[in-house]
Amino acid sequence: MDILEKCRPWTAEHLLATGRDCYFRAVGDTFDGTEADFQGRRVIVAASHDYLGLSAEPRVREAAVAAVRRFGTSLGGSRAVSGSLELHEELERGLAAFLGHEAALVLPSGYQANLMLAPLLGDGDMVFSDFSNHVSLEEAVRLGRAKERKFLHGDLGHLEELLIAADGSGTENTGGKLILTDGVFSVDGDVCDLPGLMKLADAHGARVVVDSSHDLGVLGPTGAGAGEHFGLRPDLVTGALSKSLASVGGVIAGPADVIRYLRFHARAALFTAAASPANVAAALAALRVLRAEPERRVRVLDLAERLHNGLRALGFDTGASVTPVVPVLVSGRERCLRVWRRLFDAGVFAAPMVHPVVRAGREVLRVTLTAAHTDDQLERVLAAFEHVGRVEGVIPGSAPAAHTPVRIVRPRGPLTTVR
Ligand SMILES: Cc1ncc(COP(=O)(O)O)c(C=O)c1O
Repeated sequence: MDILEKCRPWTAEHLLATGRDCYFRAVGDTFDGTEADFQGRRVIVAASHDYLGLSAEPRVREAAVAAVRRFGTSLGGSRAVSGSLELHEELERGLAAFLGHEAALVLPSGYQANLMLAPLLGDGDMVFSDFSNHVSLEEAVRLGRAKERKFLHGDLGHLEELLIAADGSGTENTGGKLILTDGVFSVDGDVCDLPGLMKLADAHGARVVVDSSHDLGVLGPTGAGAGEHFGLRPDLVTGALSKSLASVGGVIAGPADVIRYLRFHARAALFTAAASPANVAAALAALRVLRAEPERRVRVLDLAERLHNGLRALGFDTGASVTPVVPVLVSGRERCLRVWRRLFDAGVFAAPMVHPVVRAGREVLRVTLTAAHTDDQLERVLAAFEHVGRVEGVIPGSAPAAHTPVRIVRPRGPLTTVR
């Protein structure tokens, strides 16, 4: 049996199911990070997590260009050996201070930032994971040696049952406990109940890690994410730099001794090339802009609220989301992909989420607008959804009489500017 044989039927099946390939579409050009050209067709990009619209911001671009001029395009080695710049350390100090932690470590991707957790998960330890966590948190658990218990998405009652069982006699839990959660969930767009999770953690002697990829720059009075939003400090925070920080990379922040330990024990950091100078410089510049210009957070949240409510007024279901991650329910794999295609033809590039990313029957088109999108672009997105939603029968022929408006998550305190 040829080990490569499994690839061939999969490809055929996949292409048959989708009709055409709607993933891995190559962009020819981009315009201010809000529109893109695909083989001569210009569309509104409603699928990027550049929440604050900083990827095209001149100060961020120029910082990346200046770093390439100064350091070149690659450091050619791992941080441990030859790839560490003072610039990495400056970003690490900046992110640690921003996240309210003693120390931080910068990685080449957010995925790797989560894999950094693996060395913490030893024999006898137990991990409690939300079912909807990002796949890179799942991978960290697979790499570690701890036993895992998954709790139903956001269900603290279920989590408590699992924690109680782990405390009982004859349990496999002879070591420590760790609770893993996303801050904002990347498909559903809802916010974790951090106060509830931390209360349970306290009661059962567990630690809490929050993946703040989607809440960094969006939640909290200074944009520091879910922890700041709730006025709490989880034990460790991880995050991707590819979203609000308009770069590519990842971060893990926490107590200095833990970060020091992970720096020397996590293979995800030791055996990989250093984040490139351009990416580090872009993230550093974006962090400064993020902190100095809270109006960008206000803008992305305002646009998200109008997007949610505009879609809901038309009869679409945007689920439990209260954030700029807007999942539009279009159940049925083929229908979801067909709606995606029609939206693309109508000038809107959204993100189709089908099985295995979501459960069969819970397919969604994920729509995200950034602070850089204009009101006109928002209106065009809504008009495209209205047209396609009616043609495909996702929404009724005329707008429903009533809908429940979404109240987007807002900072609990006054917005703070750090210059
Ligand atoms: C919640 C979450 N964590 C981690 C990651 C991984 O980040 P990166 O794309 O930088 O590897 C992502 C990105 O898709 C994410 O959504």
